[in-house]
Amino acid sequence: MEGWIAAAVAALLALLYWQLIIAEGAYLGRRVVAWLYDLSAHLYDRIKGYEDAYEAWFLGRPLARELALLPDPLVLDVATGTGRLPLTLFRDGHYRGRLIGLDYACRMVRLAARKLAPWQERITWLCRDASALPFPDATFDAVTCLEALEFFPRPRRALREMVRVLRPGGILLVSNRIGKEARWLPGRTFTAEAFEAHLRALGLEMVQTKPWQEAYDLVWARKGGRPVPGGLRPWRAVLRCPRCGAPLQPGEAAWICSEGHRFPLRPGGILDLR
Ligand SMILES: C[S@@+](CC[C@H](N)C(=O)[O-])C[C@H]1O[C@@H](n2cnc3c(N)ncnc32)[C@H](O)[C@@H]1O
Repeated sequence: MEGWIAAAVAALLALLYWQLIIAEGAYLGRRVVAWLYDLSAHLYDRIKGYEDAYEAWFLGRPLARELALLPDPLVLDVATGTGRLPLTLFRDGHYRGRLIGLDYACRMVRLAARKLAPWQERITWLCRDASALPFPDATFDAVTCLEALEFFPRPRRALREMVRVLRPGGILLVSNRIGKEARWLPGRTFTAEAFEAHLRALGLEMVQTKPWQEAYDLVWARKGGRPVPGGLRPWRAVLRCPRCGAPLQPGEAAWICSEGHRFPLRPGGILDLR
C-alpha cells in the first residue's frame, strides 16, 4: 500500500513539474501562464541573465540595420516580457523608430516600462493576448516574438496574426524552441523544417533559421507581396478597439473607442486591452 502511495505522489510531482516548470502552464490556459510570469516577474531578468553584447549582436543591431532606411519604422514586440527586445533595439542607438510592446502578463510589462523609461515617448505598452492582435492589417515594419510561441494556447493562430499585421516587405523575427525539452511540449513546438515550411505557407519569404541559444533557434523572414511604404504612421491609425475594431483615442485615465468601449491605463502608462 505504501508503495502505491509513494508512486502516486511521485507521478503527481512529475506531472506538476512538467505542467508548471517545463510547460510553464502552457496547457492550463493563458491566464495560468501570465499568472506564473507575473508571480516571478521580479526574478525574471536575474534568472535569464541576458548579456548586453550578446543581445546586441544577435538581436538589436541586425534588426536596427534592417530598418535603417525607413523614415520612422514601427516595431511590434509580441510577448515582450520585461522588454528584452526593445531594450537592445533602443540601446543600439541606430534605431530611430517607435515600438509597441505587448504581453498578457501586466507585471512583466510594468518592469519593461520602467527599464525603458528613457525612450518612453517612442514606446506604447499593452497588456493583451497574442492570439488576437488589436491592429489593422499591414501595420508594422517588423514583428518580433522571442521565447514565447510555445506558451501560447494556439501558436499557429498567433503566427498568423503576426503575419497579418506585418506589412508586405516587413521583417518577422521569431524564436523556435529546440533542444530536449521541446519534445515535452507536444503541439506547441515545430522542427526547424516544419517551422520554415509553416512560415512559407503563411506568405513569408527569405526564411532563414540561425543557431542562437541551446533551447532556441532564431528565425528571420520577410513578408512577401508587393511592398508597401513603411514608417510614419500616427498612433491613432494603429490601435484598434479589441471589441469592435474602431480606432482607439487616448484619454486621461483610459483609451476609448467611438462605440464607447473603455480600456484603462495602468500604472506606468500601460494600456490594458485584456
Ligand atoms: C519566456 S518569456 C519571453 C519574454 C521576452 N520575449 C524575452 O525574450 O525575454 C514568455 C512571455 O510570453 C508571455 N506570454 C505567454 N502567453 C502569452 C499570450 N497568450 N499572450 C501574450 N503574451 C504571452 C509571458 O507573459 C512572458 O512574458
